[in-house]
Amino acid sequence: MDRWIAPGRVNIIGEHTDYNDGFVLPIALSLGVVCAAASRADPRVVLTSAQRPGEIVEMAPDELAAQRDRLPRWARYPLGVVHEFRLRGYPVGGLSLDLDGTVPIGAGLSSSAALCCAVTLALRDLYAPDLGERALIEIAHAAENRFAGVPTGLLDQAASILCAAGHALLLDVRAFTAANTGATEQIPFDPAGHGLALLVADTGHPHDLSDGAYAERRAQCAAAATALGLPSLRAAVPTDPARLTDDLLRRRARHVVTENARVVAVADGLRAGADPRAIGPLLTASHTSLRDDFEVSAPALDLAVEAALGAGAHGARMIGGGFGGSVLALVDHTATDRVRDAILDSFAAAGLDAPRVFPVEPAAGARRLD
Ligand code: GLA
Repeated sequence: MDRWIAPGRVNIIGEHTDYNDGFVLPIALSLGVVCAAASRADPRVVLTSAQRPGEIVEMAPDELAAQRDRLPRWARYPLGVVHEFRLRGYPVGGLSLDLDGTVPIGAGLSSSAALCCAVTLALRDLYAPDLGERALIEIAHAAENRFAGVPTGLLDQAASILCAAGHALLLDVRAFTAANTGATEQIPFDPAGHGLALLVADTGHPHDLSDGAYAERRAQCAAAATALGLPSLRAAVPTDPARLTDDLLRRRARHVVTENARVVAVADGLRAGADPRAIGPLLTASHTSLRDDFEVSAPALDLAVEAALGAGAHGARMIGGGFGGSVLALVDHTATDRVRDAILDSFAAAGLDAPRVFPVEPAAGARRLD
């Protein structure tokens, strides 16, 4: 069988901005999901995963929609992709899909988007070679939103498909959705070249975007935009949030407006070749805003951020949807061990299970392996 790989992502900055038509700045990870795929002679879709030993999910492709609710949750992501191709008229019939992933699940590193994107790429090469990158992102996104039922924005799928090694991807979601030119920009980003490291601490407190709090944040942002008479919070100017009389909506809107400004400032700095240490305070400000105004942090995330900063990180923040998951810290390469130990010690002192702390670098986006 041929194989395709799609990576997970770390968002450098721009959290909960994607579904508000705003800016994001992710990098791809070297961790990813590998999909081995081949057409079958019989009209069955047969799915296995190395992370689900002994489990085989098998059905006729035209039964997918009817059987959706009976499928194990993990299987809804890859089979949602099959379903989306069929909805678009591509002749996906008998098919074997064998999955294997290294992105930790529930860590806020986009394991689900990596899974959908790996399958999407495989099916493009097998059945739909005319599909461009935008269509791939839309299919992977639709599979996750419509079939798996998780109301995410475009950040994760765009990062997995579009990111390039050695670069951060600046994505302007409003321009991307409108299919405008200039919606994406690859910005050189070489922390190691500046004596820096990006440390991820997976707190082990899983986040679950299907539990309602994520959808609730989306609804609050939409309500804030409506109250301001705007198509989305992307269109808000810095003085707009203060016009909202509802305190909760005001804080939600303030996060989105200030976060978009921080993404642009980070992108401007990196593009100009500034020392990446200068982006540290913006990362930390993002965390404070996510914690206080957007209220999507969690005690374990705050603890990891504080420990990293206390041990000399230039900046640190929670990444992804929140409520659990991972923290990113920008540290001097020489301080890597000190910051890692400080995070581990803080968790031990709080009686929490040890987090997994590991370095990441801007890696390549989704591609065929062989
Ligand atoms: C999750 C979603 C993304 C994005 C982030 C928050 O990762 O999948 O679309 O909204 O949360 O920035």
